Amino acid sequence: MEYVVSDILLSDEVIHRRVKELAKQISKDYAGKELVTIGILKGAVIFLSDLIRYIDQDVDVVMDFMAVSSYGDSTKTSGIVKITKDIDINIRGKNVLIVEDIVDSGLTLSYLIRMMGEREPESIRVCVLLDKEERRKVPVNVDYKGFDIPDKFVVGYGLDYAGKWRNLPSIHMVDIYMNSPEEGKSMRGGDI
Ligand code: XMP
Ligand code: MG
Repeated sequence: MEYVVSDILLSDEVIHRRVKELAKQISKDYAGKELVTIGILKGAVIFLSDLIRYIDQDVDVVMDFMAVSSYGDSTKTSGIVKITKDIDINIRGKNVLIVEDIVDSGLTLSYLIRMMGEREPESIRVCVLLDKEERRKVPVNVDYKGFDIPDKFVVGYGLDYAGKWRNLPSIHMVDIYMNSPEEGKSMRGGDI
């Protein structure tokens, strides 16, 4: 099978406009406070770095990161989450914002919210760029959401397929060819 970057689902312009709006809301909600953002590596890196630069300076933003891997293949979540890099900061008594690229089944985020909650932060909220709500297996309370998207595999703006295409400024769908693109027959953004 071969994977080819296909049509733009969300252009960089549309993404930036929305990221600015999210930052405005976050700025309002945390004005005069400290906010510890926890970016989930690696997918959320681009989103988080844009987001925090749009947050007003009277929010005292602290950045930290966590890396998780779910067992199983690279495109579907198995539900078993392994922390491969923990945050460095002690979040006890802090206002925490978990920043993730996409929520799909919800298993990753629900696990992280539970785990972070045990560390007794003052508050814990979730910010995701993309939401594939129709695929949800467990409920996740998303406080700040960029876009609802259909159940298609997407890449770009931090999101990858097998480590590739995170650098694309826009978010694209992926076409999957059973043989090669020349031989035709693609399954656009279908089940991988
Ligand atoms: P769950 O199912 O735990 O999954 O909510 C969230 C994680 O699944 C990955 N994911 C994607 N990654 N394009 C990607 O590059 C996608 O369309 C996609 N859908 C799910 C992603 O790693 C996310 O953190
Ligand atoms: Mg991810």
